[in-house]
Amino acid sequence: MRRKIVAGNWKMNKTLAEGTELVQEIKQKLQSGSTPQADVIICPPFTHLSIVADLLQSTNIGLGAQNCATEVNGAYTGEVSAMMISSTGAGYVIVGHSERRAMFGEANEITAKKVVAAIQAGLTPIFCCGETLAERESGQLFDVVKAQVSTGLFSLSAEMFAKVIVAYEPVWAIGTGLNATPQQAEEMHVFIRSLIRNEFGEGAAENTSILYGGSCKPSNAPELFAIPDVDGGLIGGASLTAKDFLGIVYAFGQ
Ligand code: PGA
Repeated sequence: MRRKIVAGNWKMNKTLAEGTELVQEIKQKLQSGSTPQADVIICPPFTHLSIVADLLQSTNIGLGAQNCATEVNGAYTGEVSAMMISSTGAGYVIVGHSERRAMFGEANEITAKKVVAAIQAGLTPIFCCGETLAERESGQLFDVVKAQVSTGLFSLSAEMFAKVIVAYEPVWAIGTGLNATPQQAEEMHVFIRSLIRNEFGEGAAENTSILYGGSCKPSNAPELFAIPDVDGGLIGGASLTAKDFLGIVYAFGQ
């Protein structure tokens, strides 16, 4: 059975004090509540990783970064390597988020390098893909996602690919309050899984967790997570309060 996962992407939000407070609250509520039916991952800014790693010790909550460098080390001012992330105690890294693709010129070839860097550093990449509204409306959505997934992931060996989590995040749904309908999500998740099946076989397709992201909230999470090919969510805005984030985590059942 593939993993069910709810991951919070804080983006560029929360000071260290605010982030610490949020993690404490999430931790406390999870410890006093029932065991979640999904794995929980928190992805704060780089600056918070090592302190949050300490706070999460002896919990089941995973920790991830939101980006990593393509290179291992060297003269790359301002960059943070996958190995540095791993050295904080984090186990995950988001790669190819649409905001990085759109605002920081992260092309498919760059995401491919980051995925390799992440896996070589022992991190699990959470690889994002998804079309813009214009791409959807012009009927290019499947071609765009296929190019992102195949260039980003299909040069990996089967063994390396087994470490990857995929997140389908339609760009038009991110931060807009307009989530994909269950039908739209299902259609794309089934498509992504079929790409994986063609490349790596049935076992890999069945074992890869494919998360949905884009205006996921406690109110729409139950219907999205009920889709057999949706294995959880990558949550932006709603991961910034413990109430909403845990409302989504418990959408998998208490
Ligand atoms: P959102 O963001 O939940 O605020 O739409 C999702 C994401 O960008 O990962």
